[in-house]
Amino acid sequence: MTKPITLAILISGNGSNLQAIIDAIETGQLNAEIMAVVSNNPEAYGLVRATRHNLHTWVIDDRDYNSRKHYDDVLRHYLETIGPDYIVLAGFMRILSPGFIDAFEHRILNIHPSLLPAYKGLNTYQRALDNAETRHGVSIHLVTAELDAGPIILQASYDVEAGDRAEDLQRRGIQLEHRMFPQVLSWLADERLTIKEGQVFYDQALLEQPIQFDH
Ligand code: GRF
Repeated sequence: MTKPITLAILISGNGSNLQAIIDAIETGQLNAEIMAVVSNNPEAYGLVRATRHNLHTWVIDDRDYNSRKHYDDVLRHYLETIGPDYIVLAGFMRILSPGFIDAFEHRILNIHPSLLPAYKGLNTYQRALDNAETRHGVSIHLVTAELDAGPIILQASYDVEAGDRAEDLQRRGIQLEHRMFPQVLSWLADERLTIKEGQVFYDQALLEQPIQFDH
C-alpha cells in the first residue's frame, strides 16, 4: 500500500463529516491518517468523536483571541508544526484570512452545502427555498482567499420537493456530504486527483467542470 495522505481536520460542531472520514479510514476505503482534529469551539461534539477514536485534538477557542490575525497565526503555527498534506474544513465556521490561506496554498479543502457558485455563505437551504429552487446540492472545493469561490472539485445535486423545509434539504444534503469527502480524499490519496498551481487534474486531465457525484 502506498503511503497514506495526512490530514488535519478543522471542525466547529457536530463533526458528522469528520466521522464519515474516520469511518472510511477505519474500513480501509480511504488511505489517510488524521494527524489532528482542531476545533474553534470547545463544546463541539466532533471533539468527542475524535477522542473516541484516539485522535489528537486541539481547541483554539475563538473567545481567547480578539483579532482574526492572532487566531489565524496560532492556528497556522500549529498546522505548520504538524505539517499535514491537506487541511480539511469539515464544518469549520470561521472565515480564514488570506495570509493563512496563502500559507497552505492549494492544500485546503472545504465542503459547502450548495451548488456553488450559487448560495455562498450561510443559511443556504433556507435561501434556496425562499428562491423556489428546484435543485439544491453540495460542493467540495479548494479554498482560496475569496469565500466559497475556489475551484470546485465535486458536486452532488438533489431535488427540492414541494413542502420541503430547510431541515429536509439539510438531511438530504448531509447524507451526500458523508460520502463525498471520503471520495475526494481517496482520489487524492490514490493520486487520481492532483492539484498543481491551483488547478485540479482528474486522471491527468484538467478539470474544467466539477465532477458530478453519482448517487
Ligand atoms: C455541513 O453541512 C457542511 O456542509 C457545512 O457545515 C456542516 C458541518 O456538519 N460546512 P458536521 O459538523 O460535519 O456534522
